[in-house]
Amino acid sequence: MADKTQVTEDGKGQTTEVGSLTVTDNRTGSSYDIKIKEGTVRAMDFRQIKVDEDDFGLMTYDPGFSNTAHCRSAISYIDGEQGVLEYRGISIEQLAEHSSYLEVAFLLIYGHLPTQAELDSWLYQITHHTFVHENIKEFMNGFRHDANPMGMLLASVGALSTFYPEAMDIDDEYQWHVATIRLIAKMPTLAAFAYRHSLGLPYVYPDNELSYAGNFLSMLFKMAEHKYEPDPRIERALDVLFILHAEHEQNCSTAAVRTVGSALPDPFTAVAGGIAGLYGPLHGGANIAVVKMLQRIGSTENILDFLEGVKNGNERLMGFGHRVYKNYDPRAKIIQKHIDELLEATGKQNPLLDIGRELEKRALDDEYFTDRRLYPNVDFYSGVIYEALDIPTDMFTVMFAVPRTSGWMAQWMEWMNDPELKIARPRQVYTGARDVDYVPVEKR
Ligand code: SDX
Repeated sequence: MADKTQVTEDGKGQTTEVGSLTVTDNRTGSSYDIKIKEGTVRAMDFRQIKVDEDDFGLMTYDPGFSNTAHCRSAISYIDGEQGVLEYRGISIEQLAEHSSYLEVAFLLIYGHLPTQAELDSWLYQITHHTFVHENIKEFMNGFRHDANPMGMLLASVGALSTFYPEAMDIDDEYQWHVATIRLIAKMPTLAAFAYRHSLGLPYVYPDNELSYAGNFLSMLFKMAEHKYEPDPRIERALDVLFILHAEHEQNCSTAAVRTVGSALPDPFTAVAGGIAGLYGPLHGGANIAVVKMLQRIGSTENILDFLEGVKNGNERLMGFGHRVYKNYDPRAKIIQKHIDELLEATGKQNPLLDIGRELEKRALDDEYFTDRRLYPNVDFYSGVIYEALDIPTDMFTVMFAVPRTSGWMAQWMEWMNDPELKIARPRQVYTGARDVDYVPVEKR
């Protein structure tokens, strides 16, 4: 008879669901009670299950960690079935409607919405850390003219750790907060420098009179004018995009930050690991892959043929599907609300948008996709917005990395405070040869 789930109050008034499994090893007939807590069983509790004393014991095997929790976290909550995303319990819809990116960054990192005094201090600190050491410009100039901006960002953030060696003092929480401010403040500067380098344009220094998004637009696009004046509609749309991209629990890049961070380097190095994790087309690079996919489709007439290609495995519908969302990604819905207003602000029409909307409609009318619970994710429409902002395709993933820095730092800080923090060192199932003798080259 399975144990009924009990709910117990721990000392802090937290309720945790507990229970147990009783498993029988049919190889030996032995039974074991495995504790259930918060909907999980501890992998180490299976090591006791052996066939004899020499047996190492059972491990769990979970490539891609599809069903493995590697931490406990209170930062963001996703209900993939219902298409729910909350930051510190507040819905993404409310935050996109009422908040700002820097206020959301504070919420993610410090766990509560800031008072006015806290917000004023936070904005002041971020604004006054946007400059980077002049040597970074020399560093940037060393890249090829056509260097991928994501590669430049990855290298530059890693290099930041050499400019702030005090950040290696992991036991000093003051250094955590200084590094957090420096990273959130300097990511737009580094991203803009990478963009300007790719165009052979002079770097634009931060303008402390502008908002976070406005300053980023200025560093990207300011030319000969005395002062860059961002269009408020574009500024707001970018700030909302930053809110939507700020945090998303244990995705590939955040898991990379925690994995690198578990060896206790400085946080700049851990975030550089996150940038590396975000780079690929299955994760942060998907927004680039979506635009290239829509360009390849070329017109709405070609959509059905493309979808047939997806079904027979020759294509992948980029911007669709998600490890957690088995419903519509709520962020994709919010982005769509801003697209029409943004295109009006830029006075542009984007033919890729028409193809994207028709492609979404056809896919969601097709059982192949709905049976696999493949719906648009955050990357499906974000590229269309970046295109409308005249941001080049190879900058799209950089546009993802900038706001995700606050989520990475929130997760890193939570991990450094976690009593179960330990170095990440997964096991393997060894499938190779054993006890092979060395053969001299003349006998091979
Ligand atoms: C992000 O994790 C996060 O939170 C990430 C993110 C964040 O904010 O950090 O939300 C940001 O990375 C969004 C995802 C962006 N990536 C893409 O849009 C790339 C396209 N999507 C996929 O490659 C895929 O959906 C993943 C990688 C996102 C998720 O893959 P899973 O969970 O490993 O699912 P799966 O590959 O096992 O797919 C299940 C089935 C398979 O079919 P069968 O082999 O069972 O027949 O669905 C198929 C897959 O082949 N499938 C797709 C598909 N995605 C999955 N088929 C066609 N097109 C797709 N896009």
